Amino acid sequence: MKPRRGGGRRSGLSPGRVLAASILAEVESGRRLDVAWEASGAARSPERGWIRTLVYGTVRFRGRLDHILSRLAGRDPAAFDREVLVALRMGAYQILEMGGVPAYAAVSEAVEQVKETRKRAAAGLVNAVLRKVASNPRPRSLFPDAERDPEGYLATWGSHPRWLVRRWIAAFGPVGARALVDANNREPDVYLRPVGQRPVVAERTLAEAGLCRSGSRDHQWIALDQGTDPAAALSLVPGVIQDPAASLVVDHVSPPTGALVADLCAAPGGKALALSEAAGCVVAADLSERRLRRVVQGVRRLGEGAAIALRGPGRRVWAVAADARHPPVRRADAVLVDVPCSGTGTFRRHPDGRWRVRPPDIRKLAAVQRSILEGAATVVPRGGLLVYATCALEHEENEGQVQDFLKRHPDFRIEAGPAPERFLDENGCLVVLPHESGFDGAFAARMRRARD
Ligand SMILES: C[S@@+](CC[C@H](N)C(=O)[O-])C[C@H]1O[C@@H](n2cnc3c(N)ncnc32)[C@H](O)[C@@H]1O
Repeated sequence: MKPRRGGGRRSGLSPGRVLAASILAEVESGRRLDVAWEASGAARSPERGWIRTLVYGTVRFRGRLDHILSRLAGRDPAAFDREVLVALRMGAYQILEMGGVPAYAAVSEAVEQVKETRKRAAAGLVNAVLRKVASNPRPRSLFPDAERDPEGYLATWGSHPRWLVRRWIAAFGPVGARALVDANNREPDVYLRPVGQRPVVAERTLAEAGLCRSGSRDHQWIALDQGTDPAAALSLVPGVIQDPAASLVVDHVSPPTGALVADLCAAPGGKALALSEAAGCVVAADLSERRLRRVVQGVRRLGEGAAIALRGPGRRVWAVAADARHPPVRRADAVLVDVPCSGTGTFRRHPDGRWRVRPPDIRKLAAVQRSILEGAATVVPRGGLLVYATCALEHEENEGQVQDFLKRHPDFRIEAGPAPERFLDENGCLVVLPHESGFDGAFAARMRRARD
């Protein structure tokens, strides 16, 4: 839903709800949630926290909300027009999950919301369905039983697509899949990894400014207090906002001091910037020029200076638009390919991802990943390092991909990196699982090319 032109609001609909509805409508038409959020300007609203809880929560619990709505409306929510669906989901989320919103207010605002759109004739239906939601004291009884029907329970109450639930039950068992789904439905913490400053010093600075508690540092990462504006933390401490899972991938690479590192899928650049601490020079390449701008901004922010070019004096991170299948360097001591993937390890942070990814994507992505790995391997010299990383949990994108690569390239061998042992599998690959770590999911294989 778009706010009315000329700024006039004929109804009493709050600006926060208008913004939330417009973001959710965009997501419904296929835009990424983080992109729609940024473009909306909601981050500058005084109601920022409330809008974010409403928008991210409505997307995260879409499966749960749709199940309730279908039971109480007597039809599949997919059959509703987009404006009606958004109003119903937002209303149901406020009634069921947002303690601070009285049910009568959520119902009447949802009715107003629909009246403001070209679907005003549906106002009566929205009113009737949401009143049923508000007067249903035990919504859990509308859901499949977790023990008898784990798949049905995780797809509805757990709010994940059924095909993915089925996959995860096969991979992790019903108990593991349930723990993973629960972990994905939690709000993630925000972490800062200092770059160019010792973590202990950075933590002290942030704690003194009231942005984190002392003792919130673990390894290189510092958990910021809830509600802290990341930009405020970055203005005090040089670094990157990065989940510990991504930080662990950086640690797993650990290039030799002074090495030439090629990060061939680098944007938006968190890992490239963190790698620049030890490396002599990082070539940060990405296919997307638009996304590469984020790398350049990051480098500028860290005060290093950068250019979209390969050569130049005194620069340590070079942002280059290039296809990893045809790398923009002849050779590099260490090559990282943090490949495009299904992102099934990052559903806490990107709750819309679970609804966007489809079964055929896994196969298509695996083919892209394979060709990127092949291209990357061509610039790894004898004795050099190739690190393959994803933020996915799927076998075809992780262990399966690496096993196939090693069969085609017997001159490469996996070696355990310096990441903490509890995150290494029996082969020495980094495996971070959201339900075991409380972090995002990540996978990384560190492969050394034989010297002869
Ligand atoms: C998972 S993201 C990388 C995240 C990044 N390493 C970081 O830490 O911020 C994958 C990236 O691969 C890029 N990409 C996709 N296909 C590519 C290709 N053929 N060559 C180079 N980059 C590619 C995408 O544009 C995207 O930025």
